[in-house]
Amino acid sequence: MTRSNKCTHGKGASGADISGQVRAGYERAAPDLIAAYEKVRPERLYAPVADLLPTAPVRALDVGAGTGRDAAWLARQGHRVIAVEPVAALRAAGQRLHAGAGIVWHDDHLPGLSLLRNSAYDLILVNAVWQHVAPAQRLLALATLFRLTTPGGQVILSLRHGPGAPDRPAMPISTPRTVAQAKEAGFEVIRKTSAPSLQQANRDGGVSWDWLALRRAPTSVSR
Ligand SMILES: C[S@@+](CC[C@H](N)C(=O)[O-])C[C@H]1O[C@@H](n2cnc3c(N)ncnc32)[C@H](O)[C@@H]1O
Repeated sequence: MTRSNKCTHGKGASGADISGQVRAGYERAAPDLIAAYEKVRPERLYAPVADLLPTAPVRALDVGAGTGRDAAWLARQGHRVIAVEPVAALRAAGQRLHAGAGIVWHDDHLPGLSLLRNSAYDLILVNAVWQHVAPAQRLLALATLFRLTTPGGQVILSLRHGPGAPDRPAMPISTPRTVAQAKEAGFEVIRKTSAPSLQQANRDGGVSWDWLALRRAPTSVSR
């Protein structure tokens, strides 16, 4: 069963909206991106953190889920999965392509994720999204992710370095600054590693990735 909840006002708890340019760029490019995203194999994508991923069923959240490729992969492993995707064309594709996967879909976005205010997750994926979160909103976004992580739970965050598509602006990311902000938000950084891009076009364009695994300590209290 798939389900969609609309974010009624289009803004997160912080009042900040996903950049209109980013949203419009993804809406326009969706017909080309959908097939490309679905070709990526999650097993290869998450290889840098594979040993950290839960094997027993957990409650999982995929933020900026795109077509739901990774959400469906998690669901196939028995996890209960919520997917958040602010771009209607990608969300609709995900609901269609992965109908029957049991994914619950929401229209929401960082930094606020206001629709998820009263829930918590053992595993949160934030893959290839951080470059679209404005630097000034990243600490708030990490605080939101901390609040949504169960004590002992993890956030897997990939950080894109390199140029983005002109109509989907990718803002620069400092990995050391992200590590510092993650700690400030309350997380322990249990992995920091690098990986080449899986997509040839991105490799050719000079794109590379850092991966962070962030853990909320089992004894941590809410901030
Ligand atoms: C490069 S795509 C990655 C999609 C998916 N995670 C994957 O790995 O295939 C970036 C995604 O981030 C979403 N996005 C952009 N800004 C966002 C924000 N502020 N909060 C949540 N998602 C956002 C886009 O709509 C898009 O689906």
